[in-house]
Amino acid sequence: MEHLVCEEVNQLRQDARSVVRELGLLNDAYFEIGVTLAERHLLIELNTCQAPTMGEIAERLLLDKSTISRLVAKAVKKGYVTCFSDAHDKRKKFLSLSERGKSVLEAFEPIAFTQTREALLMLSQGQVETVYRGVSLYAEGLKRARLQDRQKADALPAKVESLPEITEQLLSHGYLLEVFDSKDETGLYEIFQEVVSSGSQFIIENASLEEFRKQFFTDHLYVCRSSSGDVVGGFYIKPNYSGRASHIANAAYMVRTSHRGKGLGALLVKASLHLAKGLGFEAMQFNMVLSENRIALRLYKKLGFTIVGTIPDAVRTLDGGHQEGYIMYRKLGESYE
Ligand SMILES: CC(C)(COP(=O)(O)OP(=O)(O)OC[C@H]1O[C@@H](n2cnc3c(N)ncnc32)[C@H](O)[C@@H]1OP(=O)(O)O)[C@@H](O)C(=O)NCCC(=O)NCCS
Repeated sequence: MEHLVCEEVNQLRQDARSVVRELGLLNDAYFEIGVTLAERHLLIELNTCQAPTMGEIAERLLLDKSTISRLVAKAVKKGYVTCFSDAHDKRKKFLSLSERGKSVLEAFEPIAFTQTREALLMLSQGQVETVYRGVSLYAEGLKRARLQDRQKADALPAKVESLPEITEQLLSHGYLLEVFDSKDETGLYEIFQEVVSSGSQFIIENASLEEFRKQFFTDHLYVCRSSSGDVVGGFYIKPNYSGRASHIANAAYMVRTSHRGKGLGALLVKASLHLAKGLGFEAMQFNMVLSENRIALRLYKKLGFTIVGTIPDAVRTLDGGHQEGYIMYRKLGESYE
């Protein structure tokens, strides 16, 4: 569609503006009900899902964190929405439609329905079908452009600064988490060699530098350094699949043997979950956790992963036998305690 000319783009923009004005969407409050457009979208979404979190609603409405917080705070103040905490984790907040919210929804929904119905009644059957198809295609185009922009942003490493709590916890243990730099290669490669040679933690058999680069050099590679500057661990995050399943992330972690059992692995997994969420992923999946890798299994379960599939005799053991491989999965949320 390189041939698109300015006039064509502007024509669609002008028509879209006319639709917005005709629908009365420029009014702060919807007719006399006093509900804004953003509030209407919020109430409609809350009516279709059960007690979602603030993050889930933000994702549905395509809003950033601060905008959704302001919107929800205003809706709570107006009595449309109630906000309650998880019984076990006070930081996790759920939203639901209040009785007042329900009655406001019942007031504006028929107005919007009638407005649309009356507009469609002015058109022939063929024209109505063209409207359905045209609006749906325009929405699809906007969505594709948004996802493409996100993919471009995903190609940059997510910022470690976005994790103040974890960074602080790591610092209190004397560790610093940073985006991988070429000077970290030797240190991280040493850990890779340790892990591969154990024969029971990764399925990888080849411990060459080339294999290390092939496995670990992704767009989002992080290292953890000790106070003396040595690389003591690291992890990568990448899409587990491509195309329509690119919203599920995959990651792999390694901690230097001499630094294991001190809580570093748990902090790295938590950091990766936050970073993956920040990159726009919706879930995390590991494709082959070895049944003999009890430490990793225990750690992942503790951080909310469940085994969603077992592959029998998936991996050869060093003694010539076999072990199972587990597919582990968790959705990405707000906190990971
Ligand atoms: C998996 C791995 C990253 C965990 O790192 P770590 O720094 O040891 O993790 P933690 O210190 O946070 O410990 C995690 C849990 O394992 C336990 N653990 C760690 N080392 C242990 C050991 N040698 N023996 C028994 N338990 C151990 C910890 O006690 C902790 O359990 P808890 O929270 O119930 O007390 C690390 O073992 C590693 O690099 N393994 C090799 C690579 C690997 O297997 N990656 C995952 C592939 S799927």
